[in-house]
Amino acid sequence: MLKNDPLLTDDLGLGMRGRDLLCVRDLSVVEIYRVFEVAALLKREHKQGIPHNLLVGKSLGMIFRKSSTRTRVSFEVGIWQLGGHGLHLNAGDIQLGRGETVGDTAEVLSRYLDGIMIRTFGHEEVIELAKHASVPVINGLTDLFHPCQALADMFTAYEKRGELSGLKLAFIGDGNNMANSLLCICAKLGVDMSLACPAGYEPPQSVVELAKSDAALTGAKLRIVRDPMEAAQDADIVYTDVWASMGQEQEKAEREKNFAKYQVNGELMAAAKPDALVMHCLPAHRGEEITDDVIDGRNSVVFDEAENRLHVQKAIMLLLMA
Ligand code: CP
Ligand code: NVA
Repeated sequence: MLKNDPLLTDDLGLGMRGRDLLCVRDLSVVEIYRVFEVAALLKREHKQGIPHNLLVGKSLGMIFRKSSTRTRVSFEVGIWQLGGHGLHLNAGDIQLGRGETVGDTAEVLSRYLDGIMIRTFGHEEVIELAKHASVPVINGLTDLFHPCQALADMFTAYEKRGELSGLKLAFIGDGNNMANSLLCICAKLGVDMSLACPAGYEPPQSVVELAKSDAALTGAKLRIVRDPMEAAQDADIVYTDVWASMGQEQEKAEREKNFAKYQVNGELMAAAKPDALVMHCLPAHRGEEITDDVIDGRNSVVFDEAENRLHVQKAIMLLLMA
C-alpha cells in the first residue's frame, strides 16, 4: 500500500530522497508532518501484520561513539522491518577509532551503504561526515542535537493531542541536545516552549536565535526562565532529561547540586494542566531529574515516545533512502 503512496514519491515536489537529517531545522514544517503521516501509516499497518518491504537490498551503517539502547535497537529493527539490513559499527571497532579520517570513512562507507546513522560527541563530526558522504546521513545524537528523538516526541504529542500548534511545552533541566532540538521543533510547529534551567546551563545563544527566527513565522513563544514552577505553569507537556549527559560524567556531582531544584515531581506537575503529558527521552535517572510517581504516573508517555522512535525512524529512512 505504501509503495505507490504519493507521500513516498517526489510527485508532490517535496522530495526528501537523498537528503541528510542533521538537525530538525533541515526539515520544513510540511516535511515534518510528512514524517508523521508516514510514521502513523507504518505503525498502524505494522500492528495489523502488513509487511513493508520497501528498502529491500538497502543497508544502513550505524556508527556509535556513545552508548545507546533505543537508537541502536530502533534503527536496527526498523531497517530490518523495511526489508533492509543494519550494521552496528562501534567507532572503536572500525578504523575511525584508529585515526582514519571522518572524510575518508564517509567516502568508503558511501560505496557500500545506502545511508549512515551516526551518534557522536561533536556536531562538527556529523557535518564533516555528511560533507563527504554521497548517501544520506542521519544524526543519531550529538552533544548539540538529537533530531530523531525530538521528531518521535512531537509525533507522540500529535497522536495524543491531534493539534500541536498552540500547545505549551515546559522543559525542566539542562539546556542540552534535547532542549536544543525541542526548541527547534517547537518553533517550527508553533508550540510554545518555556525552558527552566540554572544560570550557566542555557542552550547556546546561536540555537536560541535560529529557533526564534522560525518561531517568528509560526507565532511560537520561546522563553528561558530560572524558575521551574514558572515554566510548568499551565503546560500541556512537561519534559525533562538527565542532568549530566553522555560525556559529562565528571561533572555529575556538581550538576546534582546545581540542578537539585529542577526535578519533575508531584509538586511541579501540580502547576501544569491536570492532563499534561509527561515526557522524557530516556534513559532516566529516577529520583534525580524525575520522581518514580511522575514517570510511572497515568500522564506519562515515556514508553510511547520510546516506541515511536521505531516508527518515526522507519518513516525517515523511507523518505531519505527509498
Ligand atoms: N533516547 C535515546 O536516544 O536513547 P538511547 O541513548 O538509549 O539511544
Ligand atoms: N541528553 C542525553 C540524551 C540521551 C538520549 C545525553 O546526551 O546523554
